[in-house]
Amino acid sequence: MINREWPMYRVILENHQLLPLLPRFNLKMGFGELSVDEVCRNHGVNTDFFLEIANAYLDELYVPGEGLSLFSLSTMVSYIKSTHKYYIDIALPMVEEKINRLMSRSALSKKEISLVTNFFNDYKKDFMAHLSQEEENILPYVLELERQSAQDLPDPEFIQKLQTYSIHEFEKEHDRLETSLKHLYELIIKYLPPFEDLQLCHQVLNDLAALMKDLVDHADVEDKVLVPRVADLEALVLSRTSTV
Ligand SMILES: [Fe+2]
Ligand SMILES: [Fe+2]
Repeated sequence: MINREWPMYRVILENHQLLPLLPRFNLKMGFGELSVDEVCRNHGVNTDFFLEIANAYLDELYVPGEGLSLFSLSTMVSYIKSTHKYYIDIALPMVEEKINRLMSRSALSKKEISLVTNFFNDYKKDFMAHLSQEEENILPYVLELERQSAQDLPDPEFIQKLQTYSIHEFEKEHDRLETSLKHLYELIIKYLPPFEDLQLCHQVLNDLAALMKDLVDHADVEDKVLVPRVADLEALVLSRTSTV
């Protein structure tokens, strides 16, 4: 478990898996001897929230929940949004560029190359649709719910919506983005002929594995932390208005 007093450089040095979290919290490197707490405070980041996310990220068995329930829904939403931005700006382009490079240097047939590239392009489309649906519909709804719950008299139109919609509808439709990446990984290690550029092939596989793990964590934050908290708040707002 990471501690707030530890020097940030040492935390990252010993837990390189945390690197993808840095851009999400807008933490710039060049930490010197500053502690985790000092770095977070210098960047306007809530240290407890960073620690909760980082420890969950490192511990395979950690089920996020309890600790994260201490933070506002708007803190959760902005973390989810910055994770989406990390996927779109960094993680997906990085693996895509390597896959394209691997294909261009391979001895694969045209058919095999288009199988891989079409698979990835279709995946990217589904991925972007998944993120847009969350960014355009779900996250604004969560923020609105939090805003309405803080008012003495919530907007009647919002209450009407709440009587017919619940976050559980999102939960039912929420697919796992890591599953298709697993299939791509299998395609490379199981079905395609071996690649000569082993170094690049391993980089692609490492990137895919890291992204799969990241996506599992992300879906856990959405399904196991965000959804139950939003459902509780929906019930609270509805029960309050039914007694007015
Ligand atoms: Fe998401
Ligand atoms: Fe999602």
